[in-house]
Amino acid sequence: MSISGKKILIAVSGGIAAYKIHFLIREFIKKDAEVQVIMTPDAEHFVTKLSLSTLSKKPVYTDFYNENGTWNSHVEMALWADIMIVAPCTANTLAKMTHGMCDNLVIATYMSAKCPVFIAPAMDLDMYAHPSTTQNLELAEDFGHFIIPAENGELASGLIGQGRMAEPETIVKEVEGFFNSNHKKTLEGKTVLITAGPTYEAIDPVRFIGNHSSGKMGFSLAEEASKRGAKVILISGPTSQVMGDKNVDVHKVTSAKEMLQKVFEFYDTIDIGIASAAVADYAPKEIAKEKIKKNDDSLTIELIKNPDILKTMGEKKTHQFLVGFALETQNEEENAKGKLEKKNLDMIVLNSLRDEGAGFKNDTNKIKIFTQTEKKEFELKSKDDVAKDILNFVESQILK
Ligand code: C5P
Repeated sequence: MSISGKKILIAVSGGIAAYKIHFLIREFIKKDAEVQVIMTPDAEHFVTKLSLSTLSKKPVYTDFYNENGTWNSHVEMALWADIMIVAPCTANTLAKMTHGMCDNLVIATYMSAKCPVFIAPAMDLDMYAHPSTTQNLELAEDFGHFIIPAENGELASGLIGQGRMAEPETIVKEVEGFFNSNHKKTLEGKTVLITAGPTYEAIDPVRFIGNHSSGKMGFSLAEEASKRGAKVILISGPTSQVMGDKNVDVHKVTSAKEMLQKVFEFYDTIDIGIASAAVADYAPKEIAKEKIKKNDDSLTIELIKNPDILKTMGEKKTHQFLVGFALETQNEEENAKGKLEKKNLDMIVLNSLRDEGAGFKNDTNKIKIFTQTEKKEFELKSKDDVAKDILNFVESQILK
């Protein structure tokens, strides 16, 4: 389903990230959505009505009254909208929204709106981390609003941390995802367990063996499964990914052993298991109690095999539908099919490192899916879209 014809009300508040709203409007207009922009008085210090109205093709309002004495009906705009997006949402506007401090057009419109509300906060890292912001975001979530979390990176203050407004493409994706999945809760009643990220295997108190897995694929799968109505348990190794969906039950682990243990706390209760974690194959036989000194010219660490989590899941399978991943560099299809067999899986997702843009460090992936009898090949896509393809395929198998 596209967002063509959807009525999108964008409320801009006064933060430097307001400059990104031009790109957001342009994306929505390109996709044939209708856009109405309103602003807080402070937002006018950062962007002009003229630039925003030129892009949105509609007048932009900041006040209840116009110079010519006409009235901008907040109620009419609120009821017109299919969705409202507050972006950037400053700490001040967020606080006003969650506490009903209705002293400008944006808040009056927000309080009159009956449509779903999306909030893209943007502020300096300490303001974002402040308990008042955390509480207000939680309140907004309790109201049923969708929070598009701020991202990590360089901030206008020069500091680096979480507080940057999500990129316009991310906001567009959230909105598209909302309109797409809003209509089909295809995994309602199912419990899905997903492993994600790398594992870290301790060598001594400060060092570990790990890998470059970003965890992105597993997080995308978890969010998508949750949007489709599944109860989702995400067991993740150390990653910098932030889970935006509070319905996903996230469990952080460090080593393969911890991941195995966590998986089997839930294993009997799940319908679908997806192992996207890049589990370290080996771990140091012994973890040094003290930091290892650099005394000798060489150092030997004895490694022993880690438990194969997915294989263990396969061995203990009763009713679960199991999906594995194979990251291969040679004899890809043969190896992937071998793993399907050996680990007693129902489906395996192959990414070849030979394909540019595929693999565990990128934001994109190019996959092939195999079952005992079927094979399907997909184009290079964002990991969010790959997650959709994978879950569509899972659904086609379990609903057979
Ligand atoms: O055997 P290989 O590591 O290539 O298998 C990859 C698949 O098995 C992935 O789905 C991965 O999450 C899972 N796996 C696991 N535990 C391991 C190794 C791999 O669950 N120790």
